[in-house]
Amino acid sequence: MEETEQLAQLIIQSKKVVVFTGAGISTESGIPDFRSPGGIWSRYDPEDFTIQKFLSGPAARKTIWKMSIEGGLLTEAKPNLAHYAIAELYQLGKLDCVITQNIDNLHQKAGVPGDRVFELHGNMEWVVCLSCHRRFPMPEVLRKIKEGVEVPDCPDCKGILKPDAVFFGEALPQETLREAIRRAQNCDPFIVIGSTLVIYPAAYIPTYAREAGAKLAIVNLTPTPFDRYAEVIIRGKAGEIMSKVMEKVRLS
Ligand code: APR
Repeated sequence: MEETEQLAQLIIQSKKVVVFTGAGISTESGIPDFRSPGGIWSRYDPEDFTIQKFLSGPAARKTIWKMSIEGGLLTEAKPNLAHYAIAELYQLGKLDCVITQNIDNLHQKAGVPGDRVFELHGNMEWVVCLSCHRRFPMPEVLRKIKEGVEVPDCPDCKGILKPDAVFFGEALPQETLREAIRRAQNCDPFIVIGSTLVIYPAAYIPTYAREAGAKLAIVNLTPTPFDRYAEVIIRGKAGEIMSKVMEKVRLS
């Protein structure tokens, strides 16, 4: 049976689909991923995105804010066909949740309710003060930077402002991680879209699903270390693949 038909069948037979996404689902929205040729880590050094570096002083923070804006991480990107296909799974009552490594908020923009999106690496929509913990909408802080404030600090307590994304060296949000694992252990199928599955602890989650008996499906342009465990592997672009899959699900 053709792979998109196979994946459609897994979805049709399911009541609780969990979708796990990485940066590859957002490249068709114009946001670069990290490890494809020309990706973020071919232009910037991941070492500059550690929490230690960010806290080391205003100069490091100035560089990180500048890169975040230049690196297109903060663009006004729009959801693409793959995001809308997942939102349709939710509308059909098939989607239990999305577990995402992405910080671009595109699943929510495509129509998946916030309480069904588990953001393991945080979100660039908010900025948090590391001293008084007040949160500010990212656009408000971006405006200040564009007005020439090179290193924005908290307007209330002058504390360090940090994007609410998880930097290398930082712990993942524990409650989010715990709930994501619980959902992965109570779903079938578990569908991975657009991730190299090389960054831990996020990359453990497909294993929790598989060990709990879920069938694994992987939609990705390039091979991943989990391909050998997958029931279905579809090589190609997420937007057209997931649109094709949803056409078949709709017909069922
Ligand atoms: N359709 C399908 N797959 C795609 C597409 C596309 N249009 N574009 C890219 N891909 C695939 C790439 O081939 C690659 O295997 O998506 C994957 C993206 O992998 P990464 O760039 O490693 O992104 P991700 O897996 O999300 O990285 C995990 O690493 O740097 C950290 O915190 C960052 O959350 C990120 C984490």
